[in-house]
Amino acid sequence: GVSAEPTSGHFCGGFRVHHVSIERARVRKDSSTKKLINDAIMNNDFLKKLDPQHMREMVDCMYERIYTEGQLVIQEGEPGNFLYVLADGLLEVMQNGKLLGEMRPRTAFGELAILYNCKRTATVKAVSQAHIWALDRQTFQSIMMKSTQATQEEYFSFLRSVSLLRDLPEEKLAKIVDCLEIDYFDKGEYIIREGEEGNTFFIIAKGEVRERTQISLFIFVAEKSHIPLWHYREVKADVRSANIISTENDTQCLVVDRDNFNQMVGTYEELQAYLKEYVEELSRCDERRNFSAAND
Ligand code: CMP
Repeated sequence: GVSAEPTSGHFCGGFRVHHVSIERARVRKDSSTKKLINDAIMNNDFLKKLDPQHMREMVDCMYERIYTEGQLVIQEGEPGNFLYVLADGLLEVMQNGKLLGEMRPRTAFGELAILYNCKRTATVKAVSQAHIWALDRQTFQSIMMKSTQATQEEYFSFLRSVSLLRDLPEEKLAKIVDCLEIDYFDKGEYIIREGEEGNTFFIIAKGEVRERTQISLFIFVAEKSHIPLWHYREVKADVRSANIISTENDTQCLVVDRDNFNQMVGTYEELQAYLKEYVEELSRCDERRNFSAAND
């Protein structure tokens, strides 16, 4: 019979590309799509252990495939050539002809054969027309083989250029780099909501954001260098003190969550002491500025 999965090449804009080059093909996606794929990967117990940088590359390189009602996406017992994320539609999972369950959007699947080089463990069939993002095995492997060093260095110098982190010891900064994750926001989306519990610290890496209310509790640093805007959420405060809204599509935030940050960088007390000094210095600068403005 006809195999559910093609064995070589991949689909690109509806056309089969027969040669597989080492250069990875990136497919443009809007931020909500990137977010969906990212969420799906993070929800998968096997994939969520991957390096955040590898995840980002996977998100970038996935391409779209449409399956019609009744079509097989994966056939149990066959070799696996793709990893998938369901974006829209409904799928069912079967093993030995027995229904195991169904899959809803925001689910990553087909990871077992790709990660463990085994035969497909189940059959996956489209119950309705399904909109699926796919990544072929070669691309997956080339992403996994790529050294993360270049990107790590890039993030390292980015963080170093932020004045708040300028004097942080090198090993602490390196640890922050290790636990960075990426989050995507569209225009008008809230990055931070006032009053919400604050478990993450945000670094706006690309794009512009706007804040709605006066900031009181957190430290806000906007630096107009090569980085559009950077802002740091005070880790001690438990509740967000302002709304931060994305003013552009595809604003990408590098995010470190509180637990990771605590674990990797050390105690908050230590950082708090450091921050206190920093804030004092900032206010001294403000005073000087106000003083000279008043005397102009
Ligand atoms: P893989 O074995 O590569 O191909 C079939 C996929 O179905 C498998 O990866 C999992 O992603 C998924 N799968 C396997 N077993 C189950 C199950 N019991 N319930 C839901 N999904 C499953």
